[in-house]
Amino acid sequence: MGEKQILCVGLVVLDIINVVDKYPEEDSDSRCLSQRWQRGGNASNSCTVLSLLGAPCAFMGSLAPGHVANFLVADFRRRGVDVSQVAWQRSGDTPCSCCIVNSSNGSRTIVLYDTNLPDVSAEDFEKVDLTRFKWIHIEGRNASEQVKMLQRIDHHNAGQPPEQKVRVSVEVEKPREEIFQLFGYGDVVFVSKDVAKHLGFQSAADALRGLYSRTRKGATLICAWAEEGADALGPDGRLVHSDAFSPPRVVDTLGAGDTFNASVIFSLSQGKSVQEALRFGCQVAGKKCGLQGFDGIV
Ligand code: ADP
Ligand code: FRU
Repeated sequence: MGEKQILCVGLVVLDIINVVDKYPEEDSDSRCLSQRWQRGGNASNSCTVLSLLGAPCAFMGSLAPGHVANFLVADFRRRGVDVSQVAWQRSGDTPCSCCIVNSSNGSRTIVLYDTNLPDVSAEDFEKVDLTRFKWIHIEGRNASEQVKMLQRIDHHNAGQPPEQKVRVSVEVEKPREEIFQLFGYGDVVFVSKDVAKHLGFQSAADALRGLYSRTRKGATLICAWAEEGADALGPDGRLVHSDAFSPPRVVDTLGAGDTFNASVIFSLSQGKSVQEALRFGCQVAGKKCGLQGFDGIV
């Protein structure tokens, strides 16, 4: 068997991106600088970045057969992402996002049509051969099902020697109560600025101190905070920080967080320390913010 892969479970969507130099007024009629279709979704974007970093990786998420899915699958393949774990659904539509990227300040405004497409279920996940993966990353979505997936991985790991255990990360990005149960799973938990603010925290450090007790024993909790960089807190209680790496000009922050997560996972999976991983995550994410899309991040 070749090198073990990193599996990312979560969303893939078609991002229809309009690049503007000024955010449009409501009910106005304007022209954009450029337009492109881009494969999006947090787990899907993280796969793109992992591939660009040179890590063998696979995506697991739902797609509905059709033109949109054809585009998305072709793009995964172009990037060398393994799509053999994709759950093809018989009903529903592949989701699309309408995105406005303001190249004057890099802001991204997303309107996601998160459709009626069923998410990957614990039953789908039962079929996954866990021995193929060294790391599994789960983007929090249908959390009750995802808890069952995480318990399956725990059960598998309990029977493995340390070097064969699958390492696990989860992302708590959306401020939805159901997703918060995922804090209690995984070796690494990524919590977003959005969730931190929703829960009343004003900084990454405050969020980590306030939320760490929700994680399981031995876990590392990580919180990225845009141009302020990112912080992490592990079992030793020591707060670790990396400043952001600002590009010469911030032109596109779409997927910055997904880039950060992928780069941190890559670094940790290579045996680097949390401090090194945070720094690498901020470096690659910062570079991404200076570029349209993901090409050129490494
Ligand atoms: P998202 O909103 O996509 O979830 P975040 O805002 O949490 O992403 O940012 C993730 C990481 O991306 C940050 O830790 C930082 O390293 C980098 N980043 C984001 N915005 C900027 C920026 N304006 N300048 C430099 N780096 C940035
Ligand atoms: C960026 C992103 C986009 C997608 C949206 C889904 O993080 O994954 O690619 O449209 O978020 O919420």
